[in-house]
Amino acid sequence: MEEIKIQGGNTVSELKLVGIGPGSPDYVTDIAKRAVQSAEIVIGAQRALDLFKDYINGEMLCLTAKNVKEGLVYGAKSAQKGKNVVILSTGDPGFSGLLGSLLNFAGKQIDVEVIPGVSSLQLCAARLRMRWDTALLLSFHADVTDEKKSMLVEFLKYGKTVMLLPDPNSFGPCEVAKYLIDQGLNPETSISVCENLSLENERVATSTLGEVLEQEFEKLCVIVVRAKQQTEE
Ligand SMILES: C[S@@+](CC[C@H](N)C(=O)[O-])C[C@H]1O[C@@H](n2cnc3c(N)ncnc32)[C@H](O)[C@@H]1O
Repeated sequence: MEEIKIQGGNTVSELKLVGIGPGSPDYVTDIAKRAVQSAEIVIGAQRALDLFKDYINGEMLCLTAKNVKEGLVYGAKSAQKGKNVVILSTGDPGFSGLLGSLLNFAGKQIDVEVIPGVSSLQLCAARLRMRWDTALLLSFHADVTDEKKSMLVEFLKYGKTVMLLPDPNSFGPCEVAKYLIDQGLNPETSISVCENLSLENERVATSTLGEVLEQEFEKLCVIVVRAKQQTEE
């Protein structure tokens, strides 16, 4: 049988994509700290760099909304030249994180080691004491498509639970609630909004779609919509 070689499968790569967790130092893993300590270049958003400030010994590159592509390509090229590079990604890199962007910009064959982190979805599920293996997971972060919106409605009409990352600019909790009511969901449907998880100003609130229409929320949040109480939960 032909052997399939997976880049970065179980080897140590010069390029590490490190999940930093939801934001509190309590959720930063030891393996993430060690990777950052030994990196010659550390790339990440300001929030991520701040979280690791005591562990960074190398060059720092701050990612902003305007330089993500350049920053990731710089990291990938530097690693190819033999530099030890760490890219920091909030939560887990594989869920709406920098893994997708890195593979897009630097190529699917790039040799990268992914170090997982605690996702905001995991912490949200823990705070709500809910199982999430039966839920539909969706991210609208910077990518609000009709297809995903339809999946959201279909799953809820089927009686399932949906966990989603909103789009901070155009599809936040109020817009989600309005959209679902417009699509025929009962305004009494349960919705939980978990803001600033693990941070000082964390807030976890459960109400109804109708009530959420009148409220304001922080941009950093995870939403859970439950169409009806499910016996398996
Ligand atoms: C680019 S996505 C990254 C998600 C990340 N990879 C993860 O696994 O949590 C950013 C979105 O994740 C959610 N998020 C990240 N950290 C959060 C936190 N501490 N509390 C609530 N939501 C958070 C917010 O919806 C935020 O807009």
